[in-house]
Amino acid sequence: MSEREQAVTDEVLASFAGTADPRLREIMLALVRHLHGFAREVRLGQGEWEAAIDFLTRAGHITDERRQEFILLSDVLGLSMLTVAVNEPDTPGATEATVFGPFFVDGAPEVPPGGDLARGAVGTPCHVSGHVRSADGGPLAGVRVDVWGADEDGFYDVQYPGERSAGRGWQRTDSGGGFRFWTVLPTPYPIPHDGPVGELLAAAGRGPMRPAHLHFKVTAPGHRTLITHIFVAGDPYLGSDAVFGVKDSLIVRAEHHRGGEAPDGSRRAGEWTSMAYDLVLVPEADED
Ligand code: BEZ
Ligand code: FE
Repeated sequence: MSEREQAVTDEVLASFAGTADPRLREIMLALVRHLHGFAREVRLGQGEWEAAIDFLTRAGHITDERRQEFILLSDVLGLSMLTVAVNEPDTPGATEATVFGPFFVDGAPEVPPGGDLARGAVGTPCHVSGHVRSADGGPLAGVRVDVWGADEDGFYDVQYPGERSAGRGWQRTDSGGGFRFWTVLPTPYPIPHDGPVGELLAAAGRGPMRPAHLHFKVTAPGHRTLITHIFVAGDPYLGSDAVFGVKDSLIVRAEHHRGGEAPDGSRRAGEWTSMAYDLVLVPEADED
């Protein structure tokens, strides 16, 4: 490295050395070291620097309350999953976490046990059930389970015009830690790829598809909040998730049925499906 390059890096590092908050100081010093190291390693050209600024500017312009291009960028760079990995406690038996994604919204309705959270989302009905347990053994009763998923066309409610809420909701586990609800069977879908992140994927010869999945957020007192998905076994994109979110332990079989009696005792006409999966939370004392 030339003396001139080293002098720039040293001067910037020195400018952050007096940062009062020690964690912010640690982060900024490491960021500058790695960012400068990156620019030196690739011998960043002036035009390339301009292209990067233009990319980030366009990511900012396309971002609003419904579209978060920076989370997408973090996701396709694997930064979101790396952050999950860095923070995931090593607790045997606990359900693995995965990306949060950009489609959770506050204010989804409460759905009673056995209720339908599809509420107009189109797709094959899917009965989803399971139990929430603590990794130290017991069932967790009264715990909030938030769920959100795309419809059979691969779109979340917030991707449609208007204010319609569909394919999302929450319920509290029963006295045995159980949850059960109807929704629609998830199908694979592309992440939004009509913006700068889509251009990046295309330039890299990468696809935008995510394998079919249903999102969960489980919040229990005294436990680490679990953010995860269940993925549908057999999906063709399990090996090439655009955001690197798949973990084998989260892949679940969807049983296919035609007519007959559903797990909630209701009589069904036509095709329906069912998935069962238990969610195991990490007690706060186990966090590292
Ligand atoms: C999702 O699963 O909703 C998602 C995650 C990351 C990027 C885009 C979508
Ligand atoms: Fe999703």
